[in-house]
Amino acid sequence: MIHILQCTLPIQMKIKLRSAYMIKPQVAKQHDHILFDRIANICKGNPRVAILMSGTGSNTQAILEQRHRYPNLNFAAIATDELASQASLIASQYKLSFIFAKHHDDHPWRTKSFFYDLADKLRYLNINFLVYAGFMKIVHPAFLIEFPGINIHPADLTIKDKIGIPRYRGLGVIQQALVAGERYIASTVHIIEAKTDCGLVIAISKHLPLATGIIYNADKLHEELKLKYEHVLYPQVLTLLGSGRLSYDQLPLRAEYQDLDIS
Ligand code: GRF
Repeated sequence: MIHILQCTLPIQMKIKLRSAYMIKPQVAKQHDHILFDRIANICKGNPRVAILMSGTGSNTQAILEQRHRYPNLNFAAIATDELASQASLIASQYKLSFIFAKHHDDHPWRTKSFFYDLADKLRYLNINFLVYAGFMKIVHPAFLIEFPGINIHPADLTIKDKIGIPRYRGLGVIQQALVAGERYIASTVHIIEAKTDCGLVIAISKHLPLATGIIYNADKLHEELKLKYEHVLYPQVLTLLGSGRLSYDQLPLRAEYQDLDIS
């Protein structure tokens, strides 16, 4: 018995791990479709929007600078988990409400109480759609049911590993892409899911090519990627969503090969 257990446990664990990410393609597609339609409908219905950020907020600035392009989206608040971030400054600059939600318990990455607190504050302001822009927390699944949203991530999430999981998720992805010898880096706008950087891909930015034989600095590349491409892509996606012109069948959009600007 012990022998059987020892043999089967790793396999069971593998299956569990695999099934945490992999559901039948058909079911996954339906799930994505439903989620996308929900977001597209919310965006068509003049939602009250909050931006979630933890750091410098350059994407937040770019999104707010261009908000005339998505008049249907009512940007009402900026929320953060980090008092040292630029969130309160940007909120006052654009006359938006500022939300700070506190860590309460011992697990810094996945705190239920944090998301309860945040949800209360968002509810109070009648927020119903979230735009994540460098928010450094893994989102609690229950929170997503009430507050759907989209995120931008500094990697091409359509590059998958052998079992179909996006290869560059989480932190340090530009360095990982450099080490892996990728020929370009790009950023992805995707739907937020409880599993980090795994939600439906909406759009991929233009490619920043990487030449062979050059030693790159990942931080500098990240800044270049943000400035040249993220600050363009995120407002483009919001323009498309806000004007109700985006449908599930068109996804993923690829800025490298398509013109995403609409008149
Ligand atoms: C961006 O690179 C975004 O892709 C990632 O976090 C970074 C946020 O940068 N999710 P900033 O705070 O918008 O400058």
